[in-house]
Amino acid sequence: MKVFISGASGLVGGNCLKHFKEMGWNVIGSHLSFATPGTVFYNTQEPAHPENFDVETFQPDVIVHCGALTHVDYCEAHPEESYEKTVQSTINLMALARKCKARFVFISTDYVFDGVDGPYREEAAVNPLSVYAKHKLEAERLSLKELAHTLVLRVTNVYGNELRHKNFVARIIEQCRDGKKLTLKLPYDQFASPVNAWDIARAMYLLLQDGKEGIYHIGGSDYMNRIELALRVLSYFPGAEYDLIPVSTEELNQPAARPLLGGFVKMKFAREYPGFLFGTVDTYVRSQVNG
Ligand SMILES: NC(=O)c1ccc[n+]([C@@H]2O[C@H](COP(=O)([O-])OP(=O)(O)OC[C@H]3O[C@@H](n4cnc5c(N)ncnc54)[C@H](OP(=O)(O)O)[C@@H]3O)[C@@H](O)[C@H]2O)c1
Repeated sequence: MKVFISGASGLVGGNCLKHFKEMGWNVIGSHLSFATPGTVFYNTQEPAHPENFDVETFQPDVIVHCGALTHVDYCEAHPEESYEKTVQSTINLMALARKCKARFVFISTDYVFDGVDGPYREEAAVNPLSVYAKHKLEAERLSLKELAHTLVLRVTNVYGNELRHKNFVARIIEQCRDGKKLTLKLPYDQFASPVNAWDIARAMYLLLQDGKEGIYHIGGSDYMNRIELALRVLSYFPGAEYDLIPVSTEELNQPAARPLLGGFVKMKFAREYPGFLFGTVDTYVRSQVNG
C-alpha cells in the first residue's frame, strides 16, 4: 500500500507514519513548519506551493489527512483562519485524492457532539458547539459526500509519543521528569475517552487494509475527566509537586464551548475487530516510566 500522510510531524500523523512503515507500507509523511526525520514539506492550504512534495508523481493509494489547526480556542477567535485550515485545506487535499484516485482518510473529533448525553456511538445526532467543531463537521461531511470510500476516524483527547511532547499527558510527564512544580487548573466536568495515537495508527492500519469506509469512533479504554487524566499520570511520579485547582467548565470560561460528556462508545470497531486491545493511560505512562 502507498500512503501519503499530511501532518506527519504531528501526534496522530507521526504515529501513523511510524506504524505503517513498520508494517511494510510505502509511506510518505509531511510537515508544514516542523520538519521531522523522514518528513517532506507539504502545505495543504497552498496546493500550488513550489516546494510541496509531488504527491501526484508518488501516486498514493491512500491520502491520510492529519494536517489541521487543532487549537480550539484560537479557532473560536479566528473563524476565517479556522475555515481555511480545516475546511479549505481538506477540499484541497480531496482534489489531490481525486487526481491520484486515492482513498481519503479524514481525522475528526468528538467535538462534533454537544456533550449532553455522551459517550457517543457513530449514529448519534451531531450538534457542534464551537467554530472548530463546526468546521471539522463540515470537512467530515464534505469528504464523505464527495469522495467514494472515504474513511473518517473520530478521535478525542489524543496522547502518546511525539517529538514535541505537546499533548496533555506528555507535557505532564515531561514537567515531572524535569522536577517542575505543576499548576493544574482543570475542569472536573469534561469527560472523554483519551486514546493513544499509536492505537489510532494500529486501528487505521486494519481499517485501510480491510477497505473499510464511513465513520468509526476510536477511543481508548478509559472514560475520565481531565482531572482524573492528570492524576492518573501524576500517580507514576510520587515525588511530583503540583497544585490542583478543580473548576467547572463554566468557571474556566474558555473561549470555545466544550462538550461535557464527550468521548465514544466504540461498538462498531469492537464488533468488527473483537481481538483488538486498546491501551489505557496507565499502560502508556507505565511504559514511559519503565523505559
Ligand atoms: N490531539 C487531539 O486530542 C485531537 C482530538 C480530536 C481530533 N484531533 C484531530 O486529529 C488530527 C491530527 O491532530 P494532532 O493531534 O496530530 O495535531 P498536531 O500534533 O497539532 O499536528 C498537526 C499537524 O498538521 C500539520 N499542519 C498544520 N497546518 C498544515 C497545513 N496548512 N498544511 C500541512 N500540514 C499542516 C502540522 O505541521 P507542522 O507542525 O510541521 O507545522 C502537524 O504536522 C487533526 O485533524 C485534529 O483535529 C486531534
